[in-house]
Amino acid sequence: MKNSNLSGRGLSGTDYFSLDFVNDNFVFLNQTKLPLSEIYIETESYDRIAEAIERLEVRGAPLIGISAAYALALSLKNASANKTEEVFNSAVERLSRTRPTAVNLFYAIEEMKKTFSTNKDSKDIYSVLLKRAKEIHNEDIEKCRRIGENGLKIFRKKSTILTHCNTGKLATGGEGTAFNVIKTGFEKGLVEFVYADETRPLLQGLRLTSFELEKNSIPFAVQSDSSAAALMKEGKVDFVVVGADRIALNGDTANKIGTYNLAINANFHNVPFYVAAPTTTIDKKIANGDEIKIEFRSKNELTSINEQKIAPETYSVYSPAFDVTPAHLITGIITDKDVYFFPYNFLNE
Ligand code: MRU
Repeated sequence: MKNSNLSGRGLSGTDYFSLDFVNDNFVFLNQTKLPLSEIYIETESYDRIAEAIERLEVRGAPLIGISAAYALALSLKNASANKTEEVFNSAVERLSRTRPTAVNLFYAIEEMKKTFSTNKDSKDIYSVLLKRAKEIHNEDIEKCRRIGENGLKIFRKKSTILTHCNTGKLATGGEGTAFNVIKTGFEKGLVEFVYADETRPLLQGLRLTSFELEKNSIPFAVQSDSSAAALMKEGKVDFVVVGADRIALNGDTANKIGTYNLAINANFHNVPFYVAAPTTTIDKKIANGDEIKIEFRSKNELTSINEQKIAPETYSVYSPAFDVTPAHLITGIITDKDVYFFPYNFLNE
C-alpha cells in the first residue's frame, strides 16, 4: 500500500502516521524504507505484525506495545468460537518472543491477557480485545502529550539539544517521548537547534529522527555517533534528551546502543542528560538495570547498509541493540506524571 493510496485518509505530503487501525485492518508505515519511500502496509495477520516488529518495520518501545495489542485482538478476528483460547495463547507466545528489551511489549501483552481472561466467554471477544487495544493506543497518545508538557520544565533558555535514536511519532502512538519534549519546546520558541545522532547500525537517527525533524520544520543536523564528545567539548549542547526501552525501579535505563556512551560524555562535560518515557516503560519488577535482558541483532545489520555488503561474511560481530545507562548519570527522568531527579525510586509511581 503506497502513500498515494492513502489520500482518502487525510494524508498530505507533509503528514504521516506510524500505525492506524482502519476497516478492521492494521496499517503501518514500513520504517525500514524511510526516509526515501513512505510505504504503508495493511494486514489482518498477527504473525505479519510479529514479523514487522522483529524486522523493525515498526519499532520504538511504545509502538511495539501498541502493535502487539492490535495483533492480539486480530488473532481472534476470524477464529472459530471453540478455538479462541488456543489461538490467543499461540499469538501471545509468538508476540512475546519478537523483541526482549522494551517492557512496553510485555505491558501490552499482560493487559490484553487480562482482558481476554475476564471476557473469554463473550460472544464477540474480538471486539472486546480491539476496544482494549484502542485504549492502550489512546493512553499512549495522552502520555506523549503530557511528557511534552512536563518536558517544558527542563528548559532554562532557548536551547540546542542532542538526541539519540528515534523517539517521535514513528516510535509511539502519539507525538513521541524525547522527541515530543523537543517538539513542544520548539512550539514554545525554546529550541534553537537539534543535533541527531545517526544511531548506528540501523540509523534510526539519520533515517527517522531527521525525517520527523524535517516534517516539523525544526532546524537540525545529523552527526555521526562518535562526534558527540567533540560537540559537547565545544559547548554546543545545552542538554541531551533520549527515550527509553525499560527503566528499572532505581532509574537505570535501557535505551538504544550508544546511549550509555552519550551519558558518560554528557557527565564528563557537565551537560544535563535527560531520559523521557511514559510510565509504561518503568518495569516495577526489577530493582536495577542488571536484570534487563539486552537484545542482540544479527551480524548483517552491522556488515551491510541497505542490503549492500560492506564487510566479509567471515567477520564476527558484536551487536547489542541496547545498553543500560546507570541512574546516577541521568540528570532527570521526564514521564507523563512529572520530572524526577536522582536518586530515583519508582516503586510508588
Ligand atoms: O531498536 P529500536 O529502534 O526499536 O530502538 C528504539 C529506541 O531505543 C528508542 O529510543 C526507545 O524505544 C524509545 S521510543 C519512544
